[in-house]
Amino acid sequence: MSAQTAEKVKNDIIIRYRQKTPKSGGYHLEARKYLPGGETRESTAYDPYPAFLESGRGFQLFDCDGNEYIDFLGNYTSLVHGHCDPDISGAVRAQLEKGSMLGSVSTHLVEHARLLCERLPAVDMVRYTNSGTEAVMWAVRAARAVTRKDMILKLEGGYHGTFDAAKVSMVPDIDPGELPTPHVEGLGIPRSVLQDVVVAPFNDADKVEILLKRHRDQLAGVLVEPFIGSLGVIPPNPGYLQALRDLTRKYDVLLIFDEVQAFRLSTGGIQLRENVLPDITATGKLIGGGYPVGAFGASREIMDRFEFDLTNPDAINHSGTFNGNEVTMVAGIASIRKLDQAKIDHINALGDRLRDSLNDWFRQEGLHCQMLGIGSLSNLIYADTPVTNALHFLHAYMPCIELQALIHLELINQGIYTAKRGEFVISTPMGETEIDRCVATVKSAFEVLKPYIREKTPHLTG
Ligand SMILES: Cc1ncc(COP(=O)(O)O)c(C=O)c1O
Repeated sequence: MSAQTAEKVKNDIIIRYRQKTPKSGGYHLEARKYLPGGETRESTAYDPYPAFLESGRGFQLFDCDGNEYIDFLGNYTSLVHGHCDPDISGAVRAQLEKGSMLGSVSTHLVEHARLLCERLPAVDMVRYTNSGTEAVMWAVRAARAVTRKDMILKLEGGYHGTFDAAKVSMVPDIDPGELPTPHVEGLGIPRSVLQDVVVAPFNDADKVEILLKRHRDQLAGVLVEPFIGSLGVIPPNPGYLQALRDLTRKYDVLLIFDEVQAFRLSTGGIQLRENVLPDITATGKLIGGGYPVGAFGASREIMDRFEFDLTNPDAINHSGTFNGNEVTMVAGIASIRKLDQAKIDHINALGDRLRDSLNDWFRQEGLHCQMLGIGSLSNLIYADTPVTNALHFLHAYMPCIELQALIHLELINQGIYTAKRGEFVISTPMGETEIDRCVATVKSAFEVLKPYIREKTPHLTG
């Protein structure tokens, strides 16, 4: 083979992508006229342009150029049963004949709420929102309302959506002293939010205790993404979540779990799987069966505050035009009911298979990479050293940003659709065949990129 330069490998990948997706390229030019960057979500935008997806069925995705992909994105974990699941689609179709949102409480809403309360051991009652962002925002608000305190302790790298306090320290402090210095991410977030948010690194209960000691009189709650989802799918160390529970009890501060992604890990989310019960829970994604949703819940004592009562000075006013809309509720009921223990065991085992197969191969090849993750969620990491917090992830990722973008594009070239940040999400319609195909394709993408890796990221092979 003639000597391949990194530049040539990169250009070849992009050329093959353009050749495979010409219609998407055209639609992208049109999209750019009306949508900044031709997109409406940062998380699904990528260079040179995203494929325009037209339909999905089970684990399959089809784009406007007639290409077929295996969907390892699952709309960022919300499509746990894949696309057009017959039970979910059937429920939605039937509901569409009756109306999308009738403007009142319904039996579907009550049924959905009953399912959530039965499944999540820390939840007696729930309220609904239209996104995970809002659900976490309301969980935080509930903590503030109940404690009459404003400060939140957040874990570095935890993603909780896009409300102001959530946009603090997603990207870790690269030079932390004893503790990371909180910072706001992006313009438009008032710096004043930093008065009420402190940050500790993930998987380090001692650092949380330092902050609890320091701020116990100001802290309303400790907000926890129980695994770091957006920066590497980093699992909690054994005993870490329990340590957070013990510490928050010791210092009399509420514990909030963001189960927006973690709900899929067991029939009752990570709280059931780890037997650690938070005071307040936020969830979303799969509980909407593919439709926009969020929900937050807690004990009856906390949630009773949400009862509408103008005479009660402790009551919390919560509203939203589409909260608990009928279409989401019927889809969500079908989605949750279908996600039984057998299905969870199935996708979790497939997650192990994906990680084990690729980690074996990385070792054999002497590639300093790993597949990290928990249950049915995994992430490609450009280091084989332990990655237990967001800063570890960042150190591994920073020298490999372009490599990851090229792996992502090459996977698409070869029919595997993943999150651009390297996350692989497994859905219930998949089987071992799809996992093995994914493993083979990741290997093939690394083969294609070998000359690039030798030249641009030699630390991965050295
Ligand atoms: C853990 C977690 N919390 C909150 C959110 C925000 O949810 P949404 O995008 O529905 O607003 C997400 C979304 O990815 C998430 O992963």
